[in-house]
Amino acid sequence: MERPTPDGVRYQPTINIEKAPRIVAPILYVGTAYGFLGLAALLSINYAPWLARGDYGYPLVIMMVHFFTLGFLSMTAMGILNQWIPVVFDVEPLRVRRVIVNFLLYLVGLLTFEWGFQQHEWGVLAVGGSLLALAILAWSAGVLGQLHRSSKPHDVVYRGIQSAVLGFNLVWVLGVFMALAFLGWWPEYQVLRVHIATALAAWMGLLILTVQQKLNPMFSMSRAEGVNFALPMVLAGGGVLLAWASLVTSPLLIRVGGGLWVGTAVFAGIQLVRVLKQGKSKTFDRVFVGVGAAWLLFLAAAILTVWLNPLAVLVAFWGMLTLILSYQTRILPFMVALVVAKRLPGPVFKAFFMAQAMHSKNQPVIVAVLGLAGAALSVAGRLKGAPAFDAVSGTIILLLIASQIVNGALSMAQGRKRAPARP
Ligand code: HEM
Repeated sequence: MERPTPDGVRYQPTINIEKAPRIVAPILYVGTAYGFLGLAALLSINYAPWLARGDYGYPLVIMMVHFFTLGFLSMTAMGILNQWIPVVFDVEPLRVRRVIVNFLLYLVGLLTFEWGFQQHEWGVLAVGGSLLALAILAWSAGVLGQLHRSSKPHDVVYRGIQSAVLGFNLVWVLGVFMALAFLGWWPEYQVLRVHIATALAAWMGLLILTVQQKLNPMFSMSRAEGVNFALPMVLAGGGVLLAWASLVTSPLLIRVGGGLWVGTAVFAGIQLVRVLKQGKSKTFDRVFVGVGAAWLLFLAAAILTVWLNPLAVLVAFWGMLTLILSYQTRILPFMVALVVAKRLPGPVFKAFFMAQAMHSKNQPVIVAVLGLAGAALSVAGRLKGAPAFDAVSGTIILLLIASQIVNGALSMAQGRKRAPARP
């Protein structure tokens, strides 16, 4: 059924929000992830001298990196998918008790793993890595089970989620392998670059490319006709396969993979513009300022990979932070609107209109500006060997968190007053 929007445009959502889980399922992960992001930012300020020297192999730096990757990036992704999968694939959400147990296992695993790095206790590190592996397996089983039960077509979105979940599991396999190598149980073997490539391009990259196939048309009210979303995903996946092939051939294959990732970013950018051009929304949604800035950073990271420059990872991290915080300016108000809409009489889809009134229009622009500035400062800190730059870029992350919380809370409070109870 096509539904009229407040500005009179007709647009057909392809999701079933009646299937959304209780808000605790996404918020437990997403809220905790903000705490880990803050911790990673504080640590990055503390370790600025090491970052400026490029001492990325120090155990404390690796610990900080995983507060960001496993604590912020992966926890956010897991929480958002807890909400997104039932809604998009029209299946029952997982039971809340199961979500909470899975969350606690992951949290204990992550804290144990990080404690191992902090104390240089490689046995503790391996135990933490194994608990994390169990938690990721249990979470993946939940997602894959829901996909299996869905009657939706096995299209690019379906395959994209499957591939990203596979990527997440390959990441922990390589991670545990490296953790055991610290104990001397395996021979030293260079899998770190493949661990990083799989984490960033398969787990995070394919997930982003998949989720935005739904988000971008929804926020711009576009049908996205004639856009071949599979293309950038195939290029991203091809780059990951080359990274794996580099294990048994030459590390130079990573450069070719970097070339494919340049193609991914270029096509994703072109497709974003095509989706927006078909948009029926009468106002430009500033979330796309943040999304555009993130894709510029991904492009820069891919180009740096062609030169095998380690700064590629840093720039990709900033891209992911910018992208996630931008989308969250729209996703978090929607989650809150859904809770309110379910309590009010009338159809639940009024949550769409309530969320429209409850999001901060300018926050994505703030995220874009701070994201680009933070990335530039991190790179400058390393190139000039100046810790002050890295310390400022860590402070920018704290500013991002503060502005996200303050602007989000203010606009939700104002929007609740303005939003119509019935469309
Ligand atoms: C259970 C999951 C994971 C385990 C057990 C694990 C384990 C490890 C270990 C042991 C290292 C150090 C390797 C070395 O220096 O020789 C490492 C490095 C790294 N991992 Fe993970 N990891 C996991 C998940 C992830 C995820 C999800 C991401 C990204 C989304 C990630 C990104 C990285 C990066 C960027 C480095 C390099 C850090 C540096 O050199 O400072 N890891 N990982």
